[in-house]
Amino acid sequence: PTPARYRIAAIPADGVGAEVVAAGRSVLDALAAGSGGAFSFDWTEFPWGSRYYAETGAMMADDGLDRLKEFDAIYFGAVGWPTVPDHISLWGLRLRVCQGFDQWANVRPVRFLPGVLSPLRAADRAELDWVVVRENSEGEYAGFGGRNFAGRGAGGEVAVQSSVFTETGCERIIRFAFDLARTRERRKVSSVTKSNAQQYGMVLWDEVFRRVAADYPDVETESVLVDAMAAKFVLRPEELSVVVASNLNADILSDLGSALAGSLGLAASANLNPERAWPSMFEPVHGSAPDIAGQGVANPIGAVGSAAMMLDHFGLSEQAGRLNRAIAATTAAGVLPRDLGGRASTAEVTAAIIDALAD
Ligand code: NAI
Ligand code: MG
Repeated sequence: PTPARYRIAAIPADGVGAEVVAAGRSVLDALAAGSGGAFSFDWTEFPWGSRYYAETGAMMADDGLDRLKEFDAIYFGAVGWPTVPDHISLWGLRLRVCQGFDQWANVRPVRFLPGVLSPLRAADRAELDWVVVRENSEGEYAGFGGRNFAGRGAGGEVAVQSSVFTETGCERIIRFAFDLARTRERRKVSSVTKSNAQQYGMVLWDEVFRRVAADYPDVETESVLVDAMAAKFVLRPEELSVVVASNLNADILSDLGSALAGSLGLAASANLNPERAWPSMFEPVHGSAPDIAGQGVANPIGAVGSAAMMLDHFGLSEQAGRLNRAIAATTAAGVLPRDLGGRASTAEVTAAIIDALAD
């Protein structure tokens, strides 16, 4: 067979983004080196982010999306730095890529690793793992709204931030969640809304969920309000498999899930354009962590787990499985970074994962 060559655009961006993306790249390159020439990765790094903003006034190049279009995938670090307002850095780079490439499905697994202490008592007695599927193109982050009446003087300003729910947007993410559930041992989809209080968009979501569910009689379903689901993450996590929710609700729930698994530094994610008309983007869930940036102590597991999701996307699912087992072997052996209560540096955790790949 001809060796496969994957072209990946790396965007480390800000803070620990650079450290964890470097870790992920070295793990993937080690995997390729051990593949006997079956596949390789061709990296192109882009210098975009808050430093680029300081130099140019923009978070990414004007023709950035055009340049990224040609890649098989985008491997992203984290964006945000105290020198740039967060809504500018986020909208100017990460959200621009997600929206420009219609990466409408954001997949965020919650994995419990051996050797990592969880604050969750159920983690000791059940095998826990679930995945949060986040609607990534509309909902509460559609960017609709405005500010007015600043001229009325102090206290007089009014801001409107509207959510947008389209039937098409609801249907495609809900169908995606059902298809994903069919690939898992437990075939169940939990839909999350707040349709008691938000009576238009979220009621539409609930109706679409019931309609789509009828096409998947083999998949168990439930509809849960977001506040109740937050409690369920803590109290009944063994009942979860695929959790599908709107942009904001899934954002919050996935951070809760990764904290329960031990740390935000563990959480991986994929921003998928399932039609593959555009490149998808793989990134750890965490941000640029200015409080620990540059110290060489960032946990690389979220970034390496995101690289495993990228391998899956390429169809290299066996390699993805190998990488996930190497991560579990590393934590099980007690090689833990600081956020997990250990002393290992970013480089030491990365080296241990690469070593475990060889077993
Ligand atoms: P954060 O995720 O950067 O940090 C939250 C806490 O988790 C901090 O205590 C940090 O030290 C810790 N942490 C994060 N990643 C870690 C890792 N790999 N290893 C060990 N510990 C880790 O969130 P925060 O502080 O709210 O935001 C910082 C900046 O990042 C802001 O500018 C924010 O807008 C941006 N951000 C960007 C995201 C993205 O690019 N996808 C996501 C979230 C925040
Ligand atoms: Mg978040």
